[in-house]
Amino acid sequence: MARQYGLPSTSGETGAAEKLAHVRETVTRVLTAEQPGTGLVGMLADSGWDLARIRDTVLVVVMAGYHTSGVAVSWASHLPAGHPEIAGRLRAELDSVLGERAAPAYTDLRSLDCLDRVVKEAMRRCPPGPYAAREPAEDLVLGEYRVAAGTTLMYPIWAIHLNPAHWPDPLRFDPDRFTAAAAAGRPRFAFIPFGSGPRSCEGAAPATAEIKLMLAVLVKRFEFTPVPGHVVTPVFPDARGNPPGWGRPVPRTADRAERELDTTRRCRKQ
Ligand code: HEM
Repeated sequence: MARQYGLPSTSGETGAAEKLAHVRETVTRVLTAEQPGTGLVGMLADSGWDLARIRDTVLVVVMAGYHTSGVAVSWASHLPAGHPEIAGRLRAELDSVLGERAAPAYTDLRSLDCLDRVVKEAMRRCPPGPYAAREPAEDLVLGEYRVAAGTTLMYPIWAIHLNPAHWPDPLRFDPDRFTAAAAAGRPRFAFIPFGSGPRSCEGAAPATAEIKLMLAVLVKRFEFTPVPGHVVTPVFPDARGNPPGWGRPVPRTADRAERELDTTRRCRKQ
């Protein structure tokens, strides 16, 4: 993300804090430049919200909403480009449902099955939110592990989406995994691009509609083809399904070793 938004490329917790400070400053600068009393920001300020709250809300919507949807549309444009037969089916469906219209109406979306499957398969293969986190409020037992309250648990959406038990040949891009027949019997939690449970994505429904509308407009207007010799490198997971940094040696500082030890102490096999 740092690379994408042109942020300083420091790493570790200090790096993350610096990046957050940089993004906060930028958002504050944009907000304070807005004319008072105008637009959504002005309305929020008028309703009594302080600048810090408005800034953090804007930040969440931009990072949680726009970045993720943008990533989804990027992959959903790129992946079919390497599969002319799938790209052809998608174009044919859009031509048949939209005719001369450049963009679908919201109500057209339910007739666009191939579009639906392409978007789902792109989000399975390259989930824009690759993992999510939870902190149990009290001690809990998870399978054979005892987890202490306050431990950060990451659940890897990208890995769940590549589980060969539910997704044979998981690295292959195949939207037909999402036909009703292929999906029948597959566990509900095998596909969770928006997370799961009461803290799952608040924007799932509008995001899905937004992604489909954007992709439909783009595919109706342009033909995407791979650029010969250009290698597209996912930020993660990599071609083997491993995100960068996982399984690679990470320099161990005394502070890091102490934190790892602390996690091991708090998360014990029963
Ligand atoms: C392709 C688009 C999107 C994807 C893949 C996505 C994915 C996710 C994921 C994986 C989570 C974490 C869920 C969990 O912890 O179980 C999340 C949370 C969240 N998302 Fe999205 N998201 C998308 C679009 C949006 C949009 C458009 C908005 C709002 C404008 C949004 C707002 C949020 C918020 C507020 C949370 C935190 C929910 C909570 O903690 O209760 N997301 N999203």
